[in-house]
Amino acid sequence: MYAIAIKNLTKQFNGFTAVDNISFIVKSGELFGLLGPNGAGKTTTIRMLTGILKPTSGTARIGEYDIQRNPIEAKQLMGIVPEMANAYLDLSAIKNLLLIGELYGIQKKKRIEKAENLLKLFGLHGKRHQRVKTFSKGMKQRLIVAMGLMNDLKLLFLDEPTAGLDVESVRLIRKLIREFNDKGITVVLTTHNIEEANQLCERVAIMNHGKIVAIDRPEKLKRTIQSTASIEVAFNENVKAEELLFDGVTEVKKVGDKLRLYTEKPEEIIPTLVEYSQSSNYKILSLNTLAPNLEDVFVKLTRGGEK
Ligand SMILES: Nc1ncnc2c1ncn2[C@@H]1O[C@H](COP(=O)(O)OP(=O)(O)OP(=O)(O)O)[C@@H](O)[C@H]1O
Ligand SMILES: [Mg+2]
Repeated sequence: MYAIAIKNLTKQFNGFTAVDNISFIVKSGELFGLLGPNGAGKTTTIRMLTGILKPTSGTARIGEYDIQRNPIEAKQLMGIVPEMANAYLDLSAIKNLLLIGELYGIQKKKRIEKAENLLKLFGLHGKRHQRVKTFSKGMKQRLIVAMGLMNDLKLLFLDEPTAGLDVESVRLIRKLIREFNDKGITVVLTTHNIEEANQLCERVAIMNHGKIVAIDRPEKLKRTIQSTASIEVAFNENVKAEELLFDGVTEVKKVGDKLRLYTEKPEEIIPTLVEYSQSSNYKILSLNTLAPNLEDVFVKLTRGGEK
């Protein structure tokens, strides 16, 4: 069974295509990540899935409901943690939670109980009567995630839930996301942090320029990333990129005054470079192995896919 089925979903803003004809399925109970750089279209996608934005074309089904045709039923299944903080700063933490509970039509006794529980879970119980304006960023974000959980949800959307937080808050939020997922709640989160996607998600869709460029388990994506390790080298004279296309080097790019060699096996290429330097009499001024990064994955995955 699927929790979400997206088909040819597109969003244009004044002729600019922010989300470009994406289709995928999120399985029931899955912890699914939308990973992409700034401006990739993650938030726009989440906003369409949660009924905040109307798609230009295409459909999204939340369980058995079409988000456009049955928005109320679909929204009743969801908890939403949006990108922008939405707590009322002049209200206390508990008042914010109770207000959300009221909006969802949860009975008074139950909503108090639920709010108290969430405050404990998120380490905010001691400060529950304090106004949110006195909270630190991490405390605010924990509250916002807790607010997303007030509903009796089957599906939780989180847009960059840990962006800009310290290690402890990040750990707590990730741990709680995992625990909710273990209880059977389907989770969709966005992040631009590949390590977060790697640690949390069962499957990840990589988004770039409004398109899904890859969708797979993190382990498999990581293998793609590992294969894009690179070495940056600077010589004392201009060396042509073509000269460094040794066996095992997939590409050589000029980056400033350095040359970057893409390879699966940097440890084998480094001795070759040293040999090359000795035999050619070009001196190596600097040599660095670069950890594979998200940008490299994007370069790799989106190559040829752009105008
Ligand atoms: N309301 C809007 N009007 C016009 N353009 C918009 C609007 N909302 C988003 N966009 C554009 O759509 C593109 C995708 O934006 P979106 O917020 O979905 O990216 P994102 O992947 O969430 O990025 P980030 O990691 O920075 O949050 C951007 O180029 C953005 O400028
Ligand atoms: Mg965003």
